[in-house]
Amino acid sequence: MKDLKPIIEKMDFSAPEIAEILDSSEAEDLEMLLAKAYTVKNSFFGENIYLRGLIELSNYCNCNCLYCGIRNDNKKIERYLIEDDDVLNIVRFALKKKLNGIVIQAGEIRSKEFTSRITSLLSKIFKITGDDFRITLSLGEQSSDVLNEWFEAGARRYLLRIETSSESLFKKIHPSDYKHSFRSRLKCLDEIRKTGYQTGTGVMIGLPFQTNQDLANDIIFMKYNEIDMIGMGPYIVHPDTPLYEYKNLILPAENRFELSLKMIAIARIMMPYVNIASATALQSLDTFGREKGLKAGANVLMPNITPAGFKQKYILYHNKPYKDDSPEDSIKTMESKAGLFGEKFIYDDYGDSRQYILRTQK
Ligand code: 5AD
Repeated sequence: MKDLKPIIEKMDFSAPEIAEILDSSEAEDLEMLLAKAYTVKNSFFGENIYLRGLIELSNYCNCNCLYCGIRNDNKKIERYLIEDDDVLNIVRFALKKKLNGIVIQAGEIRSKEFTSRITSLLSKIFKITGDDFRITLSLGEQSSDVLNEWFEAGARRYLLRIETSSESLFKKIHPSDYKHSFRSRLKCLDEIRKTGYQTGTGVMIGLPFQTNQDLANDIIFMKYNEIDMIGMGPYIVHPDTPLYEYKNLILPAENRFELSLKMIAIARIMMPYVNIASATALQSLDTFGREKGLKAGANVLMPNITPAGFKQKYILYHNKPYKDDSPEDSIKTMESKAGLFGEKFIYDDYGDSRQYILRTQK
């Protein structure tokens, strides 16, 4: 068995080194890696966690990703779109809770009707919040004109997961049509950055057909593309999706969870300045999943402040945690659980990505 200590002690890893760390099943290696990542996080951010209120605006989606529960072909779910006035109420709630930013997430819709609605929603939100409020959008691939329009309307952060940096794996988990093109995804990520957004991406961990080498390349991709924000979590099956057929190919939950923590830790060590979200999907595999994510180097949490009635319909994967909780409960539970792990929420800092600040000051 190879001694990984000399590798883990470094601040930068090559792709083969990352793969070696991911391959190791030694508890000692895991412990050393997580402890190191946590030290790196604390030396840059202290024990402070940034919060963003997550609003799941709509589960309508024009895409058909083979792993996702809100894919267009899933006729078993009831579709919804939260009306502007209800969104504004959620925003008022966020302000009351001293959240200084939200993430607006929805299935991918590229119609003019939808994109213009978002533009007008942004201006309505800023009327309530004033300019001192950060809005992150997570609305899938959009044209550069639309990305521009939303930036002009005040959005400053955009999340678009590439899902995997391997084109061949991407093709295995998406239908092969123009709506699901790896090249377009990368191009859109580039447009997001060029528009001026703090740019976020991420991948799913433990997908069928995925190798540790693929995951190592994902980290290298994020580092060399100077990504500002990272959101990555374990793949979790959804019975009403085509990828469910391959459920026997994936790692047991415990190993997928551990692999996800390792990915967060490696990302933190190699990219000390990025914001890393502790993904909700971690919580589906472990009661303290997100808190353990913080201990592995993540520094952002996104309490779900979508009203319970809608939240129950935004099911991307099986066993979504806290789907019946009110927004109030989501924040309370999160705060007390993070507290148990010695982490505290920070309210008087927007938590802009330091990586973004460095990148744009160059
Ligand atoms: N398991 C884990 N994550 C998923 N997502 C979609 N479906 C699943 C699943 N079955 C993630 C994708 C997408 C984000 C919104 O949710 O990475 O980009």
